[in-house]
Amino acid sequence: MKFVVTAGPTREFIDPVRFLSNPSTGRMGFAVARAARAAGHDVTLIAGPVSLKTPPGVMRIDVVSARDMLRVVRTVIARADVLVMTAAVADWRPAHCASRKLKKMEMSDTLHLVRNPDILKTISRQRGIIRIGFAAETGTPAAEAARKCREKGLALVVGNDVTEPGSGFGTDTNRVTFVTPDGNVQRLPLMSKLAVARRIVSFAERRAKGKE
Ligand code: C5P
Repeated sequence: MKFVVTAGPTREFIDPVRFLSNPSTGRMGFAVARAARAAGHDVTLIAGPVSLKTPPGVMRIDVVSARDMLRVVRTVIARADVLVMTAAVADWRPAHCASRKLKKMEMSDTLHLVRNPDILKTISRQRGIIRIGFAAETGTPAAEAARKCREKGLALVVGNDVTEPGSGFGTDTNRVTFVTPDGNVQRLPLMSKLAVARRIVSFAERRAKGKE
């Protein structure tokens, strides 16, 4: 199958030296790309700014902002079977990006923000693609994940509580919950991100065969 995986944060620039972002390191997405490739799939990895090595055999495209990521996802999605959105896409961007560094006295105390496009929702109109999303929450993720699953038309939402030790941003492990649109909730134990990635890949494989 053809997998498209997004990973890492996005950066939303205020001027050439300042941006809004989040602590995502891209590890979960790179693990999904590695696991999908190891299972024999064709993988395109769309990465925000991260400092990780590209897994062997994976085709990588680097992006910076949410709008860049959407543009690239749209281009590569046409021939894909599975989209796994692990990227921590910034929800907002500054309404204006200055072309040169702003002087402190030129900056106001408030920043005008606008909403970024929701990549999963945009792609949900595309037929026949198995879409898998993540829900990074502070607190029990299952209820939020179920809502996201329905709202974004996903086959699976992988929920994780980013405040829990060993889970979330910058760790090599994750404790996640798999939530499907029928309300099924499966809590997995703390495991490596690569092991979580393998579970995600096998979910997509079973789903493609109509077994999930
Ligand atoms: O609603 P929330 O941002 O928590 O949903 C998380 C899921 O949606 C993740 O899979 C993330 O990659 C995706 N997302 C997106 N476009 C955005 C924000 C999040 O596709 N602008």
